[in-house]
Amino acid sequence: MKIVLAADHGGYERKNVIRDWLEEEGYQVEDLGTHSSESVDYPEYGRKAARRVQEGQADRGIIFCGSGIGIGIAANRLKGIRCANVYEPYSAQLSRQHNNANMISLGARIIGEDMTKEIIKVFLTTEFEGGRHQRRVDKLDDLEERGR
Ligand code: RB5
Repeated sequence: MKIVLAADHGGYERKNVIRDWLEEEGYQVEDLGTHSSESVDYPEYGRKAARRVQEGQADRGIIFCGSGIGIGIAANRLKGIRCANVYEPYSAQLSRQHNNANMISLGARIIGEDMTKEIIKVFLTTEFEGGRHQRRVDKLDDLEERGR
C-alpha cells in the first residue's frame, strides 16, 4: 500500500516520526514535506497530499497540522477526497467502515505519538463495508458534483 504524508510546521515533527515508523512497518511512503519548523500555510500541504490520492499515486493520505482541522479542510476541497479529522482509533475505524475515508488528518498538538500510531494502524487495516454506506458515499459525490 502506498501512503502519502504531508504536514505544516505544526505537524512536521510528528509526520517525520510516523514516516520512519511506517517505513519500518513495510509501507511505501511518500513524504511531501514540510521539512522544517519554519512557518508554512497548511492549505498547500493538504492540497499536495490530496492531489496524490486524487490522481491514484497514493492509496491513502495521512496529513498533520497543529489541530488536524485546517489541513483536513484543505484536502476535502479536492474532488474525490474523503478526509476525516480523527482523534482516536474508533473514529478512524468508522471513517473507513462507513465513509470509505481515503485520508485522515491528525492534530500533532492534540494527540500523542502512541495514540497517533494506534489511529493509523486502524485506518490502514480497516475495510469499507459498502452496502448502504456505498449509497451514502455516492450521495457525497453527487453533492460534490453539484457544488451546492
Ligand atoms: C498553525 O499554527 C496552525 O494553525 C495549524 O497547524 C493548524 O492547527 C490549523 O488548522
